[in-house]
Amino acid sequence: MRNQASPFIDACYGKEAEYTPVWFMRQAGRYLPSYRRIKGSRGVLELAKNADLASEVVVTAVRELGVDAAILFADIMLPLEAIGVDLEIKENFGPVIADPIASVGQVSSLGRLDPETDLPFLGDAIQESIRKLDGMAPLIGFSGAPFTLAAYMLEGGPSRELYKAKRVMYSDPDLWRALMRKLTDVVKSYLGMQVNHGVAAIQLFDSWVGCLSPTDYDRYVLPYTREILASLSSVPKIHFCADSSALIEEFHKAGPDVLSVDWRTPVGAVWTRCGSATSVQGNLDPVLALTGGEQMERGLSDVLDSAAGRRGHIFNLGHGVLPETDPSSLRSLVRLVHERTRHRR
Ligand code: CP3
Repeated sequence: MRNQASPFIDACYGKEAEYTPVWFMRQAGRYLPSYRRIKGSRGVLELAKNADLASEVVVTAVRELGVDAAILFADIMLPLEAIGVDLEIKENFGPVIADPIASVGQVSSLGRLDPETDLPFLGDAIQESIRKLDGMAPLIGFSGAPFTLAAYMLEGGPSRELYKAKRVMYSDPDLWRALMRKLTDVVKSYLGMQVNHGVAAIQLFDSWVGCLSPTDYDRYVLPYTREILASLSSVPKIHFCADSSALIEEFHKAGPDVLSVDWRTPVGAVWTRCGSATSVQGNLDPVLALTGGEQMERGLSDVLDSAAGRRGHIFNLGHGVLPETDPSSLRSLVRLVHERTRHRR
């Protein structure tokens, strides 16, 4: 699949694509009845560790929605569990860590990630997903970025303000550096392994880094994300952050092929700020996908108008699909984006 023609891969590299490709963050999730059926009473991590079911979830979402890319079924917390972080994912809440990190000693006691041995199910899930997709769509691998992973490890769970994590970042440089160094190595080997197993693109989720100023992003985060993205050369790289309006230029400096932005920044403004060489992914407000109908269609037109037919646009939501979304709204989005962009070029 890796070298097969695909509007999604073309758009990642800013090449002329047959039409604007579409996929959705969290497209395989509980808003889909088929996902709930396959998942049964299993937790997300348990499901991710079952290569047969995980790949089924991946392929079912693509088949049901008609999207142009598949995303691996996994979670950003998997590699943390593999290096010895005691955690669980509470449904409707998020990841919870038993012993939040408070010292350099705790960081040193975590293992190194050897993904082939520590996460054997992941390679199987990638290979099974690619086999079942049978050329229908390229598979995107992904990881959390060091800041977002560090935020969970320091906070112990989801948090709005992230003030504990930011306080460590500002006041305890040794701990911050030790943790970010550790996570950078983990993410590099985690993504490298996914590429070795055949994913066609990767997305680095720095979901919560939008709480930093540009200066602090440059100082405390950029060197690490840049190192990770630079270590992967054979596949297109997408970088996502929610609430990223103030950080678009910093994000671009990290070196992704595609900037994935939320609804607060019009996609056209990303090109104005970063130049036309970058590709842009986004960015319908997920609440509009949930609302459906005319309002959703108007939002879709706004996104396409802002993209103005440029090469290198990948249509997506500004963040993940909300659990109450009607799958038929997403199907309409796919159809409408394809229809409206196919003849424009
Ligand atoms: O379809 C896909 O997008 C692929 C699967 C995927 C999952 N997690 C599975 C999952 C992806 C890409 C992720 C990434 C992820 N996980 C992120 C980054 C993306 C983002 O949303 O910003 C983050 C922050 C996490 C951590 C995490 N895992 C959270 C905050 C939650 C939500 C808790 C809840 O139940 O609402 C999870 C659980 C989780 N991971 C679910 C899924 C499908 C939801 C539970 C379910 O539907 O069974």
